[in-house]
Amino acid sequence: MRLVLGIALLVSVRAADLCGNGFTFSDKTSYCYSLSNGVMTWPEAVIYCTNLGGYLADISGGPELVEFGNLYGSSLMTPWVGAFLNTTSGKWQFLNGGSVFLSYWTTNEPSAYGNRASLRGLPKTGLKATPEYSVQPALCKEKPALCNGGNFGGLNVGSGNITSPGWPVQYYNNLNCVYYITGPLNTYITIFFDPYLVENFVDYVEVFNGISTNPKDRLGWIDDKNTWDVSFEAKANTMTVVFHSDATQTDRGWVAKWNAKYNVPPVYSNGSSGELSSPNYPNDYDPFTQQLYYIDVFSPLNVNITFDAFNTQLKLDYLEVYSSRQYSSANLVANYTGSTVAPTSLLVQSSSVTLRFVTDGEVQRPGWHLFWNVV
Ligand SMILES: *[C@@H]1O[C@H](CO)[C@@H](O)[C@H](O)[C@H]1NC(C)=O
Ligand SMILES: *[C@@H]1O[C@H](CO)[C@@H](O)[C@H](O)[C@H]1NC(C)=O
Ligand SMILES: *[C@@H]1O[C@H](CO)[C@@H](O)[C@H](O)[C@H]1NC(C)=O
Ligand SMILES: *[C@@H]1O[C@H](CO)[C@@H](O)[C@H](O)[C@H]1NC(C)=O
Ligand SMILES: *[C@@H]1O[C@H](CO)[C@@H](O)[C@H](O)[C@H]1NC(C)=O
Repeated sequence: MRLVLGIALLVSVRAADLCGNGFTFSDKTSYCYSLSNGVMTWPEAVIYCTNLGGYLADISGGPELVEFGNLYGSSLMTPWVGAFLNTTSGKWQFLNGGSVFLSYWTTNEPSAYGNRASLRGLPKTGLKATPEYSVQPALCKEKPALCNGGNFGGLNVGSGNITSPGWPVQYYNNLNCVYYITGPLNTYITIFFDPYLVENFVDYVEVFNGISTNPKDRLGWIDDKNTWDVSFEAKANTMTVVFHSDATQTDRGWVAKWNAKYNVPPVYSNGSSGELSSPNYPNDYDPFTQQLYYIDVFSPLNVNITFDAFNTQLKLDYLEVYSSRQYSSANLVANYTGSTVAPTSLLVQSSSVTLRFVTDGEVQRPGWHLFWNVV
């Protein structure tokens, strides 16, 4: 019980922050509303709402009309809404061009006694044709700051988490949140949704390659039929995630973990001797590097490796040496990091040596250089 109360309080505190001054959030529609205290003509109401940072209300669908009935239906004030009779088309429409459906009218409306619309509660919640010079309060509406969308990551950021708005309590209705993810150059972005708790079918996540919401760039989506496939991979270092929710019913939401992965081919060194170095050597290596090196010689010879330079960020940027083509810990023969390694030699008793150089995003250094020969 204590927990339930705590969550309810959290939701209302959060919701209050979502709307501009004087507006109240409705969790039924996920819009903010404000009813003026004073009365005014319809043209004045349009300006009044704009000055508040909103617009004279439209109706986005049946659920919003029901909510208007709950909030303002008992008021006798019949506030102005942003519907008018377009004399060019001869049709009623909202200021934003949206259609005024027949079901939006109260009983016996629209009458011929007005070219603008106000909202009535009785006998049925709906619009009533009203002359524009009549004076009524204004019902203003505003889109709340619901999305935590925007830009994530950056050229120096290799991973991160994104959560749906309102996580872990509940996301909102009517969302269209867009998240742009960028990773370091020469990486590709991978993303994994866990957990993923959204309303079936109608609320969904879409994932796109690059900074794009073009259907041709869509990598996939997650909905009711497709919740088993919750990981996606972009071709390069940018990815776009879009979260849609409809007008009714929500759930807790989701957490997405993304990573920028380097996709560089391994470096081969064959024969009886050779040289290898970290990427860009003697210049600084890149952040988030994962470079593999394969040394292959004809059996049954061993490989003598000598480092004449070694300088990496201690503990965070390191070079692992394996006595096999596989880099599993059983085959690890050395793991070098820091600036006191060179000069040193290492005899690997194998004809196959794998080196794996790993760096993080913090500090880049010149790295290392080695030569090797068979013994
Ligand atoms: C009225 O309707 C016409 C024709 O459909 C349209 O071109 C015009 O933009 C409408 N007027 C307004 C103010 O929306
Ligand atoms: C992402 O969340 C996980 C736990 O779910 C946490 O271990 C990890 O540190 C987070 N990563 C970032 C970059 O915030
Ligand atoms: C030489 O390198 C290639 C890859 O370029 C590898 O497939 C091959 O096994 C190597 N040969 C020897 C003899 O180590
Ligand atoms: C490996 O090479 C280094 C440098 O040339 C040399 O000092 C060392 O004796 C060699 N080790 C073996 C086992 O040949
Ligand atoms: C090598 O050392 C680094 C720290 O310097 C560590 O993070 C990494 O896990 C080590 N590699 C292996 C295979 O143990």
